Amino acid sequence: MRIIRTVAELRHWSRQERSSGKSVGLVPTMGALHRGHASLIRAARASCGSAAVSIFVNPTQFGPNEDFARYPRSFDTDCALAEAEGADVVFAPAVEEIYPSGAATFVEVEGLSDRLDGASRPGHFRGVATVVSKLLIAAEPDRAFFGQKDAAQCAVVRRMVADLRLGTEIVVCPIVREPDGLALSSRNVYLSPAERTQALVLSRAVRQSEALVASGDRRAAPLLEAADKTLAAEPSVRVDYIAVVDWATLMPVEVAVPGTLFAVAAYIGPTRLIDNAIFR
Ligand code: PAJ
Repeated sequence: MRIIRTVAELRHWSRQERSSGKSVGLVPTMGALHRGHASLIRAARASCGSAAVSIFVNPTQFGPNEDFARYPRSFDTDCALAEAEGADVVFAPAVEEIYPSGAATFVEVEGLSDRLDGASRPGHFRGVATVVSKLLIAAEPDRAFFGQKDAAQCAVVRRMVADLRLGTEIVVCPIVREPDGLALSSRNVYLSPAERTQALVLSRAVRQSEALVASGDRRAAPLLEAADKTLAAEPSVRVDYIAVVDWATLMPVEVAVPGTLFAVAAYIGPTRLIDNAIFR
């Protein structure tokens, strides 16, 4: 497996692969890789002739009081995992490679950027859209793989790719969970044992919403009310949002239909976690 540090080298590699008849898959990550990331690499491997994983802790998507400085970094084990899952390339640029000094160009997906996580993390989706567009322009992949875990991010990226006509197909892969239901996240390492137990309230709320919809009640109001109660049962957990929205526009809906997103975000101690379900 090759480690690439510059945009020029990544683009050269991708063009070479494509000119030899292979399709290229890209899995954008911030490292601290876990089984959720591994599932994306496997999906890329399965549907593309060549697979690249980017590892870049993107400063522009973190707020001033967020965890950029202490975000978990584990480059060597990440490379071992990427290689074991069959990645051909790890793209690990320095910050200056992605944001050359004086960089003044940002990508804003208006409207979507201010909803769900964007509402509580101002500027977050601007940072995400900017770095993902830079990665797609650099790697020119046929397909890029994202996790449903970050469902609002998927909506922002899809809109951005459509608006800029980038020509990369966006593939969304299912949420990988721990056996007890907790969605895998690089931030789970921040949780104390007690918080780790409290965090299960998120997946409980998600499962409850799925059960309600399966039972035939598709109205958003009772879904929100039930989730509110479930989360309130864990008093140390501070709810950021509970939402029933259209997955493409992130606008609230009154009745869940196929493609409706139920999403929840909450602080477990200082750690913000998210989870969701998309109704079929
Ligand atoms: P990161 O949090 O490292 O996640 C990289 C990809 O892994 C995202 O598409 C995310 O949705 C997916 N992922 C995370 N946990 C998952 C899980 N439990 N199951 C399935 N997929 C999961 O998301 C980012 O990085 C960044 O915002 C990025 C897109 C790389 C831009 O900087």
